[in-house]
Amino acid sequence: MDSKQKVAVVTGSSSGIGHEISLILARNGFTTYATMRNLQKGSDLKSIAEDEKLHLYFAQLDVTDENSVKMAIQTIHNEAGRIDILINNAGYGLTGAFEDLSLNEIKTQYETNVFGLIRTTQEVLPIMRKQRSGMIVNISSGVGRFGYPTGSAYVSTKFAVEGLSECMSYEVEPFGIKVILIEPGVIQTNFFNSSVLAKKSQDPNSPYAPLMKGMENSIDKMMKNGSTPQYVAEVVLDAVTNENPKLRYLAGKDIEQLLEMKRKMSDEEFVNMMKQM
Ligand SMILES: NC(=O)c1ccc[n+]([C@@H]2O[C@H](COP(=O)([O-])OP(=O)(O)OC[C@H]3O[C@@H](n4cnc5c(N)ncnc54)[C@H](OP(=O)(O)O)[C@@H]3O)[C@@H](O)[C@H]2O)c1
Repeated sequence: MDSKQKVAVVTGSSSGIGHEISLILARNGFTTYATMRNLQKGSDLKSIAEDEKLHLYFAQLDVTDENSVKMAIQTIHNEAGRIDILINNAGYGLTGAFEDLSLNEIKTQYETNVFGLIRTTQEVLPIMRKQRSGMIVNISSGVGRFGYPTGSAYVSTKFAVEGLSECMSYEVEPFGIKVILIEPGVIQTNFFNSSVLAKKSQDPNSPYAPLMKGMENSIDKMMKNGSTPQYVAEVVLDAVTNENPKLRYLAGKDIEQLLEMKRKMSDEEFVNMMKQM
């Protein structure tokens, strides 16, 4: 089956990486459903789709809302007759030192980044299993492979995505379904602006306030050397058009370099390097 007959569904298409993945897939002939929790944010994608006459369609999908997920996936399946690619992209970051995070803030973070991905994938898998083909593409992160201070909530969601994807990949392969992890580095999107800062971390008297300040400065620097969301979209296109895709793809010059260094180091050497950074 060539890409023209294939149907892709992308979550969190209203901005950044999801926006660019939706566009690149549609421009390369995939019938693409750009889903988002607020359809009003899809107006620029809509006008590009009209100008370029792309097979790009829209559906409301909030990954934290079970009814919304069920409704969107069922409607797309009824309309398109199949689903070949699911891109689990929706996500956000919660920032704060571990002690400053409330349990509710952590639960809300997991509700989107982990349970949202599980909810959507479990809705799509039976469809792919019956087709005996499909690809589940999970947008993880380079930090699905290592931690950094103030990132325990976000990083642990990406470690969870890595673990569940790897386990699932063995289970679904006999049904013709591939699981792919995309691990972006620092990408120039709204991600850092829309990150949630834990309530206690906003208190200048928090014992972790100097650490928070230091991290803020480092992130500003890293953003300047970050990659574009188009770069990530190219990696995704490469993965989904490969007959034998790998389980993991890094996406971003910074993360490619860092993980190449990590590969050559002991755990202790890597931890020491991170402390200096
Ligand atoms: N930027 C980076 O440096 C970076 C690095 C590694 C991994 N990532 C991962 O890449 C993915 C996309 O992030 P991005 O950089 O493109 O950031 P972004 O521009 O902030 O986009 C995040 C997208 O997720 C959507 N979203 C959030 N909660 C949602 C929900 N409950 N249901 C449906 N959609 C929801 C947002 O929708 P709204 O517009 O409605 O908020 C938005 O479309 C995330 O999973 C992120 O963890 C990003």
